[in-house]
Amino acid sequence: MPEMMPAVAVRPGTPHSLHPTSLPRPAAGPGEVLVKVLRVGVCGTDMEIIEDKFGTAPPGAEALVLGHEVFGVVESAGPGAAMAPGTFVTTTVRRPGDCPPCLTGQGDFCADLAYTEHGIIGLHGFMTEHFVERPEWLIEVPAALERVGILTEPLSVVEKALQQATLIQRRIDSWQPRTALVIGAGPIGLLGTLLLRSRGMDVVTVARRAAPNAPSAIIEAAGGRYVSINDESLAGIATTLPPIDVIFECSGNARVAFDATRVLGNNGVLVLLSITGGDATTPIPLDQINREFVLGNKVMVGSVNSSRVHFEAGVEDLARFERLWPGLTERLITRRLPGLDAWSQITQRERDGIKTVIEVG
Ligand code: BGC
Repeated sequence: MPEMMPAVAVRPGTPHSLHPTSLPRPAAGPGEVLVKVLRVGVCGTDMEIIEDKFGTAPPGAEALVLGHEVFGVVESAGPGAAMAPGTFVTTTVRRPGDCPPCLTGQGDFCADLAYTEHGIIGLHGFMTEHFVERPEWLIEVPAALERVGILTEPLSVVEKALQQATLIQRRIDSWQPRTALVIGAGPIGLLGTLLLRSRGMDVVTVARRAAPNAPSAIIEAAGGRYVSINDESLAGIATTLPPIDVIFECSGNARVAFDATRVLGNNGVLVLLSITGGDATTPIPLDQINREFVLGNKVMVGSVNSSRVHFEAGVEDLARFERLWPGLTERLITRRLPGLDAWSQITQRERDGIKTVIEVG
């Protein structure tokens, strides 16, 4: 009988089926390392999987172990695996399919959507005690970032967004982004705010909650401005700003995403980052949006997931954030659950909370 280890899973197809389970404890094979999970982050996608808006179990399994944001430490290395025990690591969520972008290291651009994702689609996640992985899928995190390394995965999502915006804007020789709008002040919106601030942009972040609150305090500590959308409309906020060069839309609300098209400055780029699980329809001013996009050379682009380069950029930027604003990034983690036994608490909403992590190790 293999030794078993605890895990937390859902049964895809059954809403609200979060439950404790167990998995065989793995051992590192040739070319693999055994990683001890120290912490796992909980995100909006996990909540949607719990609500059964999406999520697929591995082939032949009934349950899907949750968790795609992980921070761990290499415990042992199998034969031929070049990664030293004691190395802190995180890992990319997505495992590529076999389309051209996947085969050339850009699984985040999978053309036929045939990828798998740990804790989301077809592969167990990290809400457990150990996993094995080949070092090429692991990203080293310096020990100095031990407290914030768990944020590398969500940060990699906005690293990709910024990289996309920058690559697209090469079309304008003189492009110098100065003003950014971030919509949403959850973990993605906040990490996006810190990233854009760290690049010297003036950033206004809008969200629903009235200020002051935990996100507004973080934004202001980083020199950004927080505005509650309940106090002022997006259009009203835009009239107080210079032309908006970049928008990161992270509100989780498609209506707001399309409202954002109306406030983007000429030559600007709007990056859509919210995965909206519903099927809402609503009238939108098509002619105006179309006209403004054509006459203003505007771009709207969707961006999902990230690849190794974005994780590596994320690790560098976590260090940069520490230098710019010591201790600030860690304030995104507003709740630390004491181990996998506390699994049932991950669905409990925390007042003024931002990010929940489970302290596994
Ligand atoms: C993850 C992405 C993933 C996406 C869709 C997000 O929460 O951060 O890596 O691709 O969900 O599954």
